[in-house]
Amino acid sequence: MNFHVLTLFPEMIENGMNTSITGRAIKNEYLTLEAVNIRDFAFNKHQKVDDYPYGGGAGMLMQAEPVYLAWESIAKKTKKKPRTVFLTPQGKVFNQAMAKEMAQEEDLVFLCGHYEGIDERVLEEIVTDFVSIGDYVLTGGELPAMVMMDSISRMVPGVLSNQESGETESFAGNLLEYPQYSRPEEWHEKKVPEVLMSGHHANVAKWRREQSIVRTAKWRPDLLKKADLTNKEWNYVRQLWKQWKEEESGKEEKRG
Ligand code: ADE
Repeated sequence: MNFHVLTLFPEMIENGMNTSITGRAIKNEYLTLEAVNIRDFAFNKHQKVDDYPYGGGAGMLMQAEPVYLAWESIAKKTKKKPRTVFLTPQGKVFNQAMAKEMAQEEDLVFLCGHYEGIDERVLEEIVTDFVSIGDYVLTGGELPAMVMMDSISRMVPGVLSNQESGETESFAGNLLEYPQYSRPEEWHEKKVPEVLMSGHHANVAKWRREQSIVRTAKWRPDLLKKADLTNKEWNYVRQLWKQWKEEESGKEEKRG
């Protein structure tokens, strides 16, 4: 996987990505990272990249030409017109399925905006995917680009060791991950669940699946619709929801 980032802050991207697991993957050549400074493609006296919006309004816009030339410097090197992601709160909300799908690409370009945005005309010409990382507004696209590159990297073969492998984890099968425990057996008077100490693999797997379902039903019921539950498991979920609802109304009665 070759990541290319169009940004006004290349050192922010390089510092973030050359750390921890993504840093190791770059060193071991499972990933490459190129941060292109858009300002290097502003051929005016002060290397200015922004200007006032036509029609008025608050703030400045990034101009089309330096963004286009910076993108073109990458597109000239890739085999085909590269998939180009613009980070924006107006985009489709990023998720694990998108990470998995984008990990299949050979090259990915991320365009990071600043100020009030980017001239629409260059977006029309180069952007293939408009992506948001959630319903909140950040000061620029660098953190969202790094969030995306981090989760996409985990899906690239070789980036994670077998031990770190991304198979049994949150969102696998649209369920959240089960709780985990390590030594000591007892901590702050809390014991590790008995079944995990039993060495009975089938019972451990059953317990973990049940815990995943309980967590998802409690914290992310929206995910359950897409999860592959058996009829028995759905009955269990309905029973949990009923029980929690009764507990809630019990609490409300107490409060008066
Ligand atoms: N730029 C600013 N806020 C953003 C968000 N939530 N997602 C992606 N890009 C952004």
